[in-house]
Amino acid sequence: METVLSGIRSTGNLHLGNYFGAIKNFIKMQYEHNCYFFIADYHSLTTHPTPADLHSNVKQVLTEYLAAGLDPEKATIYVQSDLPEIAELYLLLNMNAYIGELERTTSFKDKVRKQPENVNAGLLTYPVLMAADIIIHHASKVPVGKDQEQNLEMARKFAKRFNHMYKIKYFTEPQAFNFNEELVKIPGLDGTGKMGKSDGNGIYLADSDKAIRKKVMRAVTDSGPSEPNSAFTEPISNLFALMNVVSEQSTIEHFKNSYAECSIRYGDLKKQLAEDIIKFVSPIRARIEDISHNDEYLSKVAKMGAEKARVNASKTIKEVREIIGFRKFY
Ligand code: TRP
Repeated sequence: METVLSGIRSTGNLHLGNYFGAIKNFIKMQYEHNCYFFIADYHSLTTHPTPADLHSNVKQVLTEYLAAGLDPEKATIYVQSDLPEIAELYLLLNMNAYIGELERTTSFKDKVRKQPENVNAGLLTYPVLMAADIIIHHASKVPVGKDQEQNLEMARKFAKRFNHMYKIKYFTEPQAFNFNEELVKIPGLDGTGKMGKSDGNGIYLADSDKAIRKKVMRAVTDSGPSEPNSAFTEPISNLFALMNVVSEQSTIEHFKNSYAECSIRYGDLKKQLAEDIIKFVSPIRARIEDISHNDEYLSKVAKMGAEKARVNASKTIKEVREIIGFRKFY
């Protein structure tokens, strides 16, 4: 059994792309591995949220992940800032992280370009904090998307460097968890590209029926197939990709056939797609509603997760302090 760990950004409502791209796999993994899922609220400080936003973002993300199906009895689900041990390991790892290598990471260079007015040291050392998150639990596998591969590479580097420096095989070098063909990319509704929160092309797990219908009915299409059996254009193939995850096989076949025969009416397809998305989303949305009003449950979950995670984290910190050479005088 692998120790699998993933950090979750603490901003943004979950959309169908998040669900079918990552969460569905998290839900499966939690029954097969020793899983740690945490909300990365320390990391979110690089964007300077207000105290009220910081808390409400964490609450919302925790709520939506639980509503989507993360099981606190199976996985260890916690809030990063509930583990001050992570901050301590971050401090210690920073001593062996070099400015040059941190400046060279693509995500840092991106930030420098995009927000020159806020290039804080937290952004520079973001990969060090992420390494601390991972290696504090000796996680062997981290399910990450393409955009996080370099950060994971850095985590391996810092783990290896520590081991080398103290001549001990202590930290595990984390590897990417490969979903292989299970990774489903969910396209957006604007005809091109994938579903993403920034593009405003997404359907959220918390969206109302009305909002879902409106968004789907507005989705980009084309002028229709010009001859029998023609290939899908991108906007149409995107609508079918959505159908593939929410609709019955017979529904999909029906619309594929009518497309092939040039008798398809996109309005009908969208109506059906909207209803099938609603059928999928509505139980999750109901649970979001329930959990968000159940502070007692949220507090129980967060406390349980923090307690479980801290057992490991404090053991690691104790050992790391010994390895480094801190000795108490009292
Ligand atoms: N950087 C990740 C993201 O932006 C979030 C994250 C923080 C993370 N710490 C992590 C992911 C540790 C995996 C492991 O999505």
